[in-house]
Amino acid sequence: MKIAIDGPAGAGKSTVAKAVARKMKFNYLDTGAMYRAAAYAMIERGIEPSDREKVLSALPGLSMKIVYKGGSQKVLIDGRDVTPYIRTPQISKGASDIAVIPELRLKLVDLQREVANEYDVVMDGRDIGTYVLPDADFKFFITASPRERAKRRYLELKETVPDADIDQIERDIIARDKTDSTREFAPLRQAEDAVLVDTTDLNREQVIELVSGMISGAV
Ligand code: C5P
Repeated sequence: MKIAIDGPAGAGKSTVAKAVARKMKFNYLDTGAMYRAAAYAMIERGIEPSDREKVLSALPGLSMKIVYKGGSQKVLIDGRDVTPYIRTPQISKGASDIAVIPELRLKLVDLQREVANEYDVVMDGRDIGTYVLPDADFKFFITASPRERAKRRYLELKETVPDADIDQIERDIIARDKTDSTREFAPLRQAEDAVLVDTTDLNREQVIELVSGMISGAV
C-alpha cells in the first residue's frame, strides 16, 4: 500500500506521516530530507544549489542511499549519514533551489519509487500524489496558513535558537512556497484526487486522528 502526503513547508506533513506509518507499520519516507541532503552535498563540494550547470556536472558523482536504522530514516551521501546536518535555514533554502533542477529530481524520484516498490510506504513531499506515486492508495494535501506554519516552526526552533524571529521564518516559508509552486517540473500542487486537510485550527492529535480515521475507514 502507498500513502502520499503533500503540502507546503511547515504544514505538519511529517508529523502526520510518521504517526500514520507507525500505526500501520509501514515505512516512512521523508522525501524533503533527500532534497536537503542533495543541497548539503553540493554545498560541501563548494557548489551553490542554485548553480544549475555546476550541479549538473556534479550529479553523476552524487551517491545517495536511504537506510532505516532503529525505525528512522537516514540519508547517506557517499556512505556517510548526513541526516543531522540538513535542518538549517541555509539547507532549507538550498533544497528548494536545487529542487528546481529536473535532472536532480529524476534521480531522487527513481530512489523514491524503489523504496515504494520494496515496502508499504507513507511518503511525504511536494509532488508525491501528482508525480512520484500517481497511483497511491491514499492522497492527502496538508496545509495551514503561513502565519500558523511560521508559529509552529518558531516554537520548535526557540529551544535551540533563542533569537529565532517569527516574521523572518514566515518570510522564508512564503519564499520557499513560491519557489516550490512556480517551478516548471513537478511543482507543489494538490492532486485532483487528494483530500485537502487544513490544519490551521487543528492540533497535532486531531490531524493524526483525522487522517488515520480516513485510511482505516476505507481499508
Ligand atoms: O519537506 P522539506 O521542507 O524538508 O523539503 C525541503 C525542500 O525540498 C522543499 O522546500 C522543496 O523545495 C523540496 N522538495 C521537493 N519535492 C519533494 C520534497 C521536497 O521539491 N517531494
